[in-house]
Amino acid sequence: MAGKPALLQEIEPVSPHESLAGRDLCSVADLTTTELAAILALAHDIKANPAAYRWALDAKQMVMFFEKASLRTRLTFETAMNTLGGAAVFVDQTQSPLGERESLADIARNVERWVSVIVLRTYAHETITEMAQYASVPVVNALSDLEHPCQAIADFMTLQERFGSLHGFNFTYVGDGNNVCHSLMLTAALLGAHCAVGTPKNYAPKADIVAQARAIANVTGSNITLVNDPVAAVKDADAVYTDVCTSMGFEHEATKRAPIFKPYQVNEVLMSYASPKAVFLHCLPAHRNAEVTDAVLDGPQSVVFDQAENRMHAQKALLLMLLGAGRKR
Ligand code: CP
Ligand code: NVA
Repeated sequence: MAGKPALLQEIEPVSPHESLAGRDLCSVADLTTTELAAILALAHDIKANPAAYRWALDAKQMVMFFEKASLRTRLTFETAMNTLGGAAVFVDQTQSPLGERESLADIARNVERWVSVIVLRTYAHETITEMAQYASVPVVNALSDLEHPCQAIADFMTLQERFGSLHGFNFTYVGDGNNVCHSLMLTAALLGAHCAVGTPKNYAPKADIVAQARAIANVTGSNITLVNDPVAAVKDADAVYTDVCTSMGFEHEATKRAPIFKPYQVNEVLMSYASPKAVFLHCLPAHRNAEVTDAVLDGPQSVVFDQAENRMHAQKALLLMLLGAGRKR
């Protein structure tokens, strides 16, 4: 947009398809409401009409560097890319963190010569932002210690399928104020959904993410509420979301955390405080009968496998838009 007269920008606004092309997705906060809405709209269309997008990324290459384990993220990115006509190359970094053998800048300057998009799953969030700074091709956060944006986009796609518009929707997250919680708060805020977060005292989401989410929510007209009482968080919720108490990289804290998180378990009693039409969400993998009971995870309110399926559709939409191929052919 640089150099374009302001008046012309108003008359001829840049569409999200144009504005997202060539960009990175390190955080949900990288997106505007319009861009997020466009990714979601495209994701719904791709899910309904997959054949229309069969060759949209013909011969494009995607590399995935993963420092942490994955089932859903790896397979949904690979299947997304393959069914769009491109190819995915997976590099297991679980035994050697990125930047150890050579600098992130040098990795970026090599990889951008061969591939169209770089997907990273890391411990340090800065590994992703630094790679994005150096690489000329889009860099996508496939989970860091700070955020899990692709998860949150698929989760809100799942909620849109069930509920339509989410403006004024009551979304609740209970458990650890972790990477998934951060991305969900930001996504809720962008879509104008209210977000109540119930965590133990020392496990609240990071203050700067809360501030970012509240700044967005001020514009979209929603409320971001933090509480310590799980019942207060869940009361009248339209959706109840939880995640593991101990994320990857924090395993040494598991024994200490287990009793602290016990009152935050999502079970049938806690779900009874939510709206009778409420759905239950979890990014998976779940620790059964720890943060959620089998009865809830496998029960009629659970949409966890829809979420898992939608990872693929949402990531197809994201890849198409970042690679400038967002329009239906
Ligand atoms: N939800 C999710 O990201 O799952 P994986 O860790 O299996 O990729
Ligand atoms: N918060 C979890 C999410 C796993 C998909 C973790 O980071 O391990």
